Amino acid sequence: MLVNGSGCLDALAAPGVAAQLDAFVTKTITPEPREGSPPVRIAETEAGMLNSIGLQGPGIDAFLADTLPALAAQGLRIWVSVGGFSAPDYAGICERLDGRPEVEVIELNLSCPNVEEAPESSAQIVAACRSRTTRPLYAKLSPATSDIAESARAVVAAGADGLTLVNTLRGMALDPLTLRPKLARGFGGYSGPALRPIALACVSACARAVDVPIVGLGGVASGQHALELVAAGASVVSLGTVLFSDPSAPESIRRGLRHESTVRGYTDSLAARGVANSI
Ligand SMILES: Cc1cc2nc3c(=O)[nH]c(=O)nc-3n(C[C@H](O)[C@H](O)[C@H](O)COP(=O)(O)O)c2cc1C
Repeated sequence: MLVNGSGCLDALAAPGVAAQLDAFVTKTITPEPREGSPPVRIAETEAGMLNSIGLQGPGIDAFLADTLPALAAQGLRIWVSVGGFSAPDYAGICERLDGRPEVEVIELNLSCPNVEEAPESSAQIVAACRSRTTRPLYAKLSPATSDIAESARAVVAAGADGLTLVNTLRGMALDPLTLRPKLARGFGGYSGPALRPIALACVSACARAVDVPIVGLGGVASGQHALELVAAGASVVSLGTVLFSDPSAPESIRRGLRHESTVRGYTDSLAARGVANSI
């Protein structure tokens, strides 16, 4: 199964790209409308991209009134990414999504490097959301932690049905002449090729620690990359930064995943799930 990374695809602006995916993941929705960070918000680096979008979005009211019906009209399976600044923020949005049958999965963005973290722990936020919705809840975790398997155990014990691994890492890029940060906020989330070995390690560690579906993402740009994430324990592969440069990536990566699986004798790519974890 192929999906997009939250914030990496606007399905309303690019319906043809969204139609290549098995489900569409929305940009993170917050309780109130947010303008996000000031420009410059994107910078390229040698091995990836920095962004400091800062959770720009319409807020939950406009999302439910306008965006969700428009996405549903495109016939998409819809996963909604939820963010906030406290456990009640997250839980309040979950409660409102619970009444909407168009929503297949709620992904809790517990790890945005561009906003202040909620004061509660990830497990407390998951527990608060669990009490307000029966929808499948996926916890999206940061790779910037000393023991991600421990975080995975905690959020699953608190009621998460799945994990999304990984979000971006905080990074910084300087203008070579002025030596000032390229991004207006100084730092941003680092994504793309450099994240791939980190994502593989996080998926592998969590797949060994908990028995829930894992959405793997971080630097995927080919069928080989997707199959490696499955081998590390992912059951869903998600595409992020690659979508900014290649709108046909979902189709070509799906074809490549099928090919790489077949040449290794797997009738289905999921048959390779976890083979990297036997040592
Ligand atoms: C421009 C941009 C915006 C993003 N916005 C969000 C967001 O709103 N919520 C979220 O959970 N992750 C967000 N992410 C993180 C991605 O969903 C993904 O976790 C990350 O980019 C790693 O995957 P990649 O290396 O394939 O891009 C964003 C990433 C980028 C590049």
